[in-house]
Amino acid sequence: MLQLESISVYQFKNYLNAQWAFQDRIIAISGRNGIGKTNLLDAIYFLCFTKSYFQRSDANLVLHGAQGLRVAGRFNRDGQTIEVSGVIRETGKKTFSINGQPYDRLSDHIGQFPAVFIAPDDVQIILDGSEERRRFLDALLSQVDPVYLQELMKYNKLLQQRNSLLKQQLESGRQQPELLEILDQQLVQPAQYVFEKRSLYCSQLLAQATERYGAIAGNRYPLDLKYESPLQSGSMADLLYANRLRDQASGRTLAGIHRDDITMALGDQPFRQTASQGQRKSLLFSLKLAEFQLLKEKKGFAPLLLLDDVFEKLDAERMHNLLQEVCLANNGQVFVTDTHPERLKESFDRLEMGFQEIRCME
Ligand SMILES: Nc1ncnc2c1ncn2[C@@H]1O[C@H](COP(=O)(O)OP(=O)(O)OP(=O)(O)O)[C@@H](O)[C@H]1O
Ligand SMILES: [Mg+2]
Repeated sequence: MLQLESISVYQFKNYLNAQWAFQDRIIAISGRNGIGKTNLLDAIYFLCFTKSYFQRSDANLVLHGAQGLRVAGRFNRDGQTIEVSGVIRETGKKTFSINGQPYDRLSDHIGQFPAVFIAPDDVQIILDGSEERRRFLDALLSQVDPVYLQELMKYNKLLQQRNSLLKQQLESGRQQPELLEILDQQLVQPAQYVFEKRSLYCSQLLAQATERYGAIAGNRYPLDLKYESPLQSGSMADLLYANRLRDQASGRTLAGIHRDDITMALGDQPFRQTASQGQRKSLLFSLKLAEFQLLKEKKGFAPLLLLDDVFEKLDAERMHNLLQEVCLANNGQVFVTDTHPERLKESFDRLEMGFQEIRCME
């Protein structure tokens, strides 16, 4: 079992200095627009992930006008108390510690305190380009398999080197195939690793998401989710070789696992173009709950669930079903935000669930 017992934040987003204690499994966070509800969830996510769920640059996490930040929390994992802290220094250097012991690599922290975030804009995972879907998949697999993130980072670094080499050669008009050859060889192994893990976990994740979607939205138009990668039809080495001339002509690496995608179809139409807003939301929740289940299965305990503003996005009935599933059928800790404390109270009363109320105020 995983539970966050307390958190303190210093110069994190709109918070100068604040702390909260969480005694319950269900935490209902309310407060007016702009008070910092989402930021509190993001601080929890940061503690689990060493990164914000929203901001790609750490600089945006520091309170405007301040320098550096700190987030610290106490977890209870299977009965053991564990202290985690994350610091970004004035210089921008980031360090994380577990029970006072700093990590050598931040990536070693990821997956130890799994968390799933569901935010209002997450429907972009479905609507946007493939990058968003890879981000979703990578966040999940990094938590499931510690080696995955290492290999993915290795791949991305080599890819960057290869792209700058290609660009440089294009600009200078001088090709050095030997250098390219070396990078190509190094790319093969991490690409293969990432591909195999994506294949393995996608089959489970997507099957589970499809089933859930059917249960929520009905099966009139069958949903088809597929993991798609060029490595399904050949090795990375062959792919790089086959695309070499095109790569050299364009100055970057055109094919590889950095272009993988999850394709989504409804009936015989692409999901993005056809699905209604309600269907998009249903698919999003199906994917996120499938992620939740997969993590739970792999870790042996439920991840933290961070539900931001979902009342705004779901009608009362859907919300009830969602909360019933995540709060009653699971023993994980759930954080829910809403502007209306009464709406939160009604929902949990209806489920006959005890909960802790947190009101964010100035
Ligand atoms: N680095 C930062 N420094 C100072 N303020 C920040 C920083 N980042 C975000 N904020 C501010 O934090 C405020 C609270 O944001 P947050 O999204 O947490 O509000 P919220 O309670 O979730 O509101 P809503 O109900 O509208 O979703 C925003 O007004 C935003 O401008
Ligand atoms: Mg918010």
